[in-house]
Amino acid sequence: MAFQKKTIRDVDVHGKRVLVRCDFNVPLENGVITDDRRIRESLPTIRELLNRGAAVILMSHLGRPEGRDERYSLKPVAVRLGELLGREVRFAPDCVGEEVKAMASALKPGEAMLLENVRFHEEETKNDPEFAQQLASLADLFVNDAFGSAHRAHASTEGVAHYLPAVAGFLMEKEIQYLGRALADPSRPFVAVLGGAKVSDKIQVVENLLPKVDALLIGGGMAFTFLRAKGLTTGRSLLDAESLDFVNSVLVESPDKILLPTDVVVADSVDSETGTEVRVEEIPEDKMGLDIGTATAATFAARIEGASTVIWNGPMGVFEKEPFSKGTKAIAEAMARCQGVTIVGGGDTAAAVEKFGLADKMTHVSTGGGASLEFLEGKALPGVVALQDA
Ligand code: 3PG
Repeated sequence: MAFQKKTIRDVDVHGKRVLVRCDFNVPLENGVITDDRRIRESLPTIRELLNRGAAVILMSHLGRPEGRDERYSLKPVAVRLGELLGREVRFAPDCVGEEVKAMASALKPGEAMLLENVRFHEEETKNDPEFAQQLASLADLFVNDAFGSAHRAHASTEGVAHYLPAVAGFLMEKEIQYLGRALADPSRPFVAVLGGAKVSDKIQVVENLLPKVDALLIGGGMAFTFLRAKGLTTGRSLLDAESLDFVNSVLVESPDKILLPTDVVVADSVDSETGTEVRVEEIPEDKMGLDIGTATAATFAARIEGASTVIWNGPMGVFEKEPFSKGTKAIAEAMARCQGVTIVGGGDTAAAVEKFGLADKMTHVSTGGGASLEFLEGKALPGVVALQDA
């Protein structure tokens, strides 16, 4: 599937000031970045622009602050980015205002600066046109490389594109191409693996994927609602009662495509130090299912290894806890062995493959959590729609 939007390849950036929206919303613990993947994935676009003689003004959100809050400052990102680029990245104390404007005007070709968190202003998430215009006034051209935020119609992702020529960066293009090709023209067999807690979060993904895939493997907390719909008792496992009607209807429509766990790991709670494997017909009343079992992991792994395209979104269990991590690990390992195209949705699933040291073995690990989910739902992403057509 050809990418339908202009990219930085299509525009002359030499001597121009280029405003680049990245998704630098990285996890921080006491001011220290614990996973810099989103920053590293932004490097190709930033390097290309700098090498082609642009003055690069970077912007992003970080977290969900309510007003100015130093805990959400992007300063640590400017430092890390400077290390990765091997050159200074100036840091602006705000994203709009006279001082920032003066800094942006003084920036020379081949130099980079990062603006402070755009969400320190409530106008950002309101997509306030005046605020978007102020951001736009800093530059001659807008580049959106923030796939992870492309599902947000905010001033720095969507609004600003109305006031400057707007094109995509390399990361945005790569994400849309991998996910888009898998959905539009997958090599078969095409297998989707879905997990996570709630069916309600995945209803539209299931609806969009089911007609396209050859098999849909369901694990994680959401599997128990499917098992319940089949008439099994699931003890104290997660139950998304409101989604039971939906689950019943897809089980009736596509009984052969959907694979559910046949065994699970149960325990008293997520804090239990061990779990016990049981067949799904034998889940005790007083226990909860917290991972898929060995037999299920083997069945799922065989389907994954035999596939030509696999999309995975949502862990198979509470993988953050060692006793309940084996199912998710087994799926990550099967994805790593698969010879076909393997695509991992962002958020928790990306964190899981990173944790197991297997991210490099995947064809593509998305940097977008909510964004990749909305893309898999078949929705248009406002941050992409706003860019110039190719
Ligand atoms: C993400 O982490 O999914 C993106 O950065 C979007 O963040 P948000 O959900 O706070 O808009």
